[in-house]
Amino acid sequence: MTPDLLGEGQELLAHIQGLVAREGPITFRRFMALALYHPHYGYYTRPGARMGREGDYVTSPEVHPVFGYAVAEQVLEMWEAMGRPRPFTLVEPGAGTGALAQAVLRWARQRASELYDSLRYVLLEASPHLRDRQRQALAAYEDRVSWRRSLPRGIVGCFLQNELFDSFPVHRVAVEGGALREVYVDFREGRLQELLGAPSTPRLAAYFRRLGIWSGEGCRAEVNLAALDFMARIARALERGFALTFDYGYEAQQIFVPWRREGTLMAFYRHNPSHDPYARPGRQDLTSHVDFTSLIEAGRRHGLEPLGLTTQARFLSALGIGQEMAQEEDLEGYYARRRALVELLDPASLGRIKVLLQAKGVARVSLRGLEESNEVALQEALCHSERSEESTGAQSELREGSQPAGQPDPSLLSG
Ligand SMILES: C[S@@+](CC[C@H](N)C(=O)[O-])C[C@H]1O[C@@H](n2cnc3c(N)ncnc32)[C@H](O)[C@@H]1O
Repeated sequence: MTPDLLGEGQELLAHIQGLVAREGPITFRRFMALALYHPHYGYYTRPGARMGREGDYVTSPEVHPVFGYAVAEQVLEMWEAMGRPRPFTLVEPGAGTGALAQAVLRWARQRASELYDSLRYVLLEASPHLRDRQRQALAAYEDRVSWRRSLPRGIVGCFLQNELFDSFPVHRVAVEGGALREVYVDFREGRLQELLGAPSTPRLAAYFRRLGIWSGEGCRAEVNLAALDFMARIARALERGFALTFDYGYEAQQIFVPWRREGTLMAFYRHNPSHDPYARPGRQDLTSHVDFTSLIEAGRRHGLEPLGLTTQARFLSALGIGQEMAQEEDLEGYYARRRALVELLDPASLGRIKVLLQAKGVARVSLRGLEESNEVALQEALCHSERSEESTGAQSELREGSQPAGQPDPSLLSG
């Protein structure tokens, strides 16, 4: 073991040990909040790579800007459906490195100048370190972007969140002898250990009463009350417009099922998943699937009506994400975009992310992202681009060291 690895997570562990010695066992929710967001030792608050190839997990905006370009196309349609309001505010909570904001703004500036002129882009970010990265990434859009510490009110526009809710601290619960119990974290025999106790809040029992389902005796499950509260705040903050949410998750009847004995909580460290949330506290990501049934209900109570729930693969296909493949003439750009499409649409990975569209104060509207996607057309686009590559002879030209003619705008190809 390198000296570096010996110390991994020790500072936070010592902090939690002291906390438990003073106050007794803490809820799993509190443990997870410390592991991810402790001001000095939290996973998201410490400097260093988190999302992206060099980090612990990959998110869609980090794969390729083409994800943000598709989102921007959907945003353009929303703006038009609302009668082209000015200003039109995009609010992105949990914007990570700023990659999605950068792609959306770049696309709007180059492809939809009237939308761009109306745009304001507001970012909220829990991590000071990531806020700095966002400022660097978005320096070219200084006149359009701003940062807030809390949700602004009276928004006419769209809330945009990618993998926000699955990074919120969750309560963990179990049913023992027919009674709802909560998971607490204790420090004994030199390590963190779980024990079950009385629920720390009546909201946990109310959550399952409302849903009318439970996984079964002995099963563990997560309850993301913070996600419901945040969605309620989004709904209240939105005066008129949309919310577009991408997150791993399912509807409640697919989450609270007997075969998920350990729930959906996962840890990620250098792209390796694990079921041990207590290894390396503050040094590995912790995440759990979102219960979209409860999330939709939380918005609905404040006038945010669901328009549809689909998968990322369907959403991006319906928006025609593959259509520009055929026009790609730079071979490197072509392969980067092609690899990105495969990754973004992979039904076993990013493609299975759920996409929730909600609206408030907007006349009935059908959005392109929710239309039956034409996956055949997408396949054809991918095949067509293969043929066009052969027919332009781009590959052989490059092999001989020269660039194919007609380079695309490089700023639309890079992150
Ligand atoms: C899983 S990452 C996703 C980042 C980015 N959206 C992406 O797709 O690459 C979750 C992000 O949400 C941020 N976050 C978590 N809770 C937050 C909150 N209450 N307000 C603002 N940002 C938050 C984290 O710091 C992190 O940047």
